[in-house]
Order: sequence, then structure tokens, then C-alpha cells
Amino acid sequence: MAKTAISAKQLVKWFGEGEAKTTAVNEVSFEAYFGEIFFLVGPSGSGKTTLLSMISGILRPNSGSAFIDNTDIWSLSTDELADFRLNRIGFVFQDYHLFPRLSTVENVAIPLILKRHDWDESIQTAMGFLEIVGLSDRAQLPPVNLSGGEQQRVAIARAMVSQPDILIFDEPTASLDGDTGKKIMSFVKTKILNEKRCVLVVTHDNRIFEFADRIMKMEDGKVTAIETQSSAT
Ligand SMILES: Nc1ncnc2c1ncn2[C@@H]1O[C@H](COP(=O)(O)OP(=O)(O)O)[C@@H](O)[C@H]1O
Ligand SMILES: [Mg+2]
Repeated sequence: MAKTAISAKQLVKWFGEGEAKTTAVNEVSFEAYFGEIFFLVGPSGSGKTTLLSMISGILRPNSGSAFIDNTDIWSLSTDELADFRLNRIGFVFQDYHLFPRLSTVENVAIPLILKRHDWDESIQTAMGFLEIVGLSDRAQLPPVNLSGGEQQRVAIARAMVSQPDILIFDEPTASLDGDTGKKIMSFVKTKILNEKRCVLVVTHDNRIFEFADRIMKMEDGKVTAIETQSSAT
């Protein structure tokens, strides 16, 4: 039996009041397991980002609960939640969010510096992760000197540097051409995913659906289907 990494129970989030009230996420429940790549797909406005924010400790739900590896994250204090996120969850965004004035290796080291690790030690650890993503020869360059695909690999190295077991990718290939997007997902599948990690990918890029173990579809704030990909590569 696979171990549950993320468990959403009856999550609800609405915005606005009266006439203007929108229920962005409407009683959504699902589980994602360690060892799988779980895709969350749906049209724009279907509630994907809102759901992601509630299961990663960014946005408090109106009702329902979110568990990460059996921790009820919304029962934690603000400080506990901040620590929990730093230690357990890594994020990769569409537009990389790299700092242009820092070198590539310094960008990767940021989560460790935030955790008050020693600077030299942090840089050394960051170098190790740059090696994993195949970019150690770019360490001293500013990120603008790297291609889009390379910058996304830097963002992946940074998401992994504090050894989180939950990796969340929000539209990771949206800024990349089809080939590069597939290469990134193939890299995630073969080099990043293991039985102790859970990778959650929000996307509407159907070019990368083949890399999903399971795909959850959302529409109007509700789950419409959860499909298992038998032919996952
Ligand atoms: N901060 C907010 N204030 C008001 N409405 C919001 C806010 N965030 C999202 N919404 C609304 O909630 C719905 C779902 O949005 P979102 O979760 O961003 O969808 P998706 O990520 O699937 O595009 C949309 O109707 C959106 O307009
Ligand atoms: Mg969104």
C-alpha cells in the first residue's frame, strides 16, 4: 500500500461576499502518494492555484483540512507552519523566480541561507544539487546567461536543496518549448522522483501528460475525475 503524502479533506475556499461570492474550491478531497507524480489539470479559473495554496500552507481554507504526511497543517501555529513549509515542501514556478543579481549557485543556496546554515557550507551543498541537474559548470554565472530550460533546472535544484519530500510544480513547462518541457519532466521522473518523494504538478500543458502517474481533473472548483495512467513513461 502506497503511503499517503498529501491528503485534502473537503476543502472549501470562497472569495467575496453576497452577489460577488465565488466558491473557488468546493469540497475537494483527494490523496496523493509518495512515489508518484500527481497532475492537477483543469481550465483557467477552475480552482487549481487556490487548491494548491491550501495544501501548501499559503491560504487558509474556509473549511476542510489538509494533511501533509499525517500533519494537519492548518492546526499548526504560524511559526510551526513556516518551518514545516521550509523543511517539507519545495516549489517550482512557471517563471523560475530566480534572483538576477545572485549567481546561479547562490540562487540554489537561498533556502539553506534562510534556514541560517553557514554560508560556505550552503554554497557547497548547493553545488552538489547543481551537479545533479547537470549545471555545475554554470554555477558562477548570473541566471540570465542560462537558457529557459537551464533556468528551470536551477529552480528545481533550489526546490530540492533543503531535501523536501513534497515537490510542487506550478505550470513548470508553460514558458518552455515542447521539447524542453518534456526533457524537464523526464528529468523529474527519472532523477527527482523516488519512493520517498511526492511530486504534484499543476498544468494545462497536455504535451507533458504522459509523465503523470495519475491525473486529477477540476472544473468549477470541483473534482470531475481522477485517472490512472497505465502507460506512464
Ligand atoms: N484572491 C482572490 N480574490 C477573488 N477571487 C479569486 C482570488 N483567487 C482566485 N479567485 C477566483 O477563484 C476562482 C479560481 O481561481 P484559481 O484558483 O486561480 O484558478 P486556476 O488556478 O485554476 O486558474 C476564479 O474564479 C478566480 O477568479
Ligand atoms: Mg492558476
